Amino acid sequence: MKILITGGAGYIGSTVTDLLIEQGHTAVVYDNLSHGRRELTPAGVEFVEGELSDRAKIEKVFNLARDAHQPFDAVLHFAALIEAGESMQKPELYFRNNTASTLALLEAMLACGPKRLVFSSTAAVYGEPETVPILEDARLAPTNAYGHSKLLVEQMLTWLHRIHGFAYASLRYFNVAGAAETAEGIVRGESHEPETHLIPLLLDVALGRRACIRIYGDDYPTPDGTCIRDYIHVADLADAHLRALDALLAGRGQQAPLVYNLGNGKGFSVREVVESARRVTGHAIPAEVQPRRPGDPAVLVASSEKAMRELGWKPRYTELDGILRTAWTWHQRRYRA
Ligand SMILES: NC(=O)c1ccc[n+]([C@@H]2O[C@H](COP(=O)([O-])OP(=O)(O)OC[C@H]3O[C@@H](n4cnc5c(N)ncnc54)[C@H](O)[C@@H]3O)[C@@H](O)[C@H]2O)c1
Repeated sequence: MKILITGGAGYIGSTVTDLLIEQGHTAVVYDNLSHGRRELTPAGVEFVEGELSDRAKIEKVFNLARDAHQPFDAVLHFAALIEAGESMQKPELYFRNNTASTLALLEAMLACGPKRLVFSSTAAVYGEPETVPILEDARLAPTNAYGHSKLLVEQMLTWLHRIHGFAYASLRYFNVAGAAETAEGIVRGESHEPETHLIPLLLDVALGRRACIRIYGDDYPTPDGTCIRDYIHVADLADAHLRALDALLAGRGQQAPLVYNLGNGKGFSVREVVESARRVTGHAIPAEVQPRRPGDPAVLVASSEKAMRELGWKPRYTELDGILRTAWTWHQRRYRA
């Protein structure tokens, strides 16, 4: 397969690019480097620095490939801004970058690119769930602008499917974590700038890069009062992408869009994650409780039964300590060097 990977210089996109290359496929990374790093692109992979909203540039990438008789088979679309907190201060930024810019990509695909897409959606499209674990047909009612910017893309995609037969898989990731092991060891992992995700923040404290971890709210209706989330290992997530691509290339997705939750089906509270980080790093990791953040649902846990049934997918990392250990290995490698 030949795949265009938007946002491939980021955490998840670069991990999936690695897996594609390892399995003998060809990838081209397209990223504006606003939050990614060029050096994350695996050796031998073509990198195009470009803005998602630049339809002409994306069309050029598609046309050059077609003229060289090596057209793209599909697009993996990771490029997005991902901070729920920031989206509640600057919603317009999220609707511009994540929604409007995605429309430019979709227009370029309709004009001269492949008509198959795997979209990085998010558990944030559900908002506060009515029942857990969450099934794909649950009510979609985001509680933050980030989640809504992704839901709008899903809605655009349904119309492109209905009217143009555009085939897509929308993968609703829960909390992605950990670092993938490759033949060269653990060479990439999670880091965002600025960092807002719990696990890398905890590991920063363990390395002395931050003084303490902030727990946002301990008065939620959960057993220990802190939010509960479902953590999926990035290697399991990458595997699901390859399976979704295979399904699209096999013609599934023509009759109906493929929409899957991707989580490991277990929920862990913020306090449980803190405890796990203490065990794995051997560091005391001081914590301080802060008020709740707006737009944070109390519990987000996936049912990924559908992905398991239809894609034959099964997460390998189901325990928190196992996920944390891979993250810790990479974090030390990146920041202790
Ligand atoms: N990390 C998670 O836990 C999580 C959970 C659910 C969904 N997701 C989704 O997965 C995708 C990847 O997330 P990540 O954690 O790897 O984030 P990341 O910030 O590491 O990667 C995103 C990449 O997209 C690029 N990008 C952003 N806007 C762009 C634009 N307008 N044009 C071109 N490139 C642009 C950035 O430079 C960056 O390299 C995102 O779509 C995110 O919404 C992530």
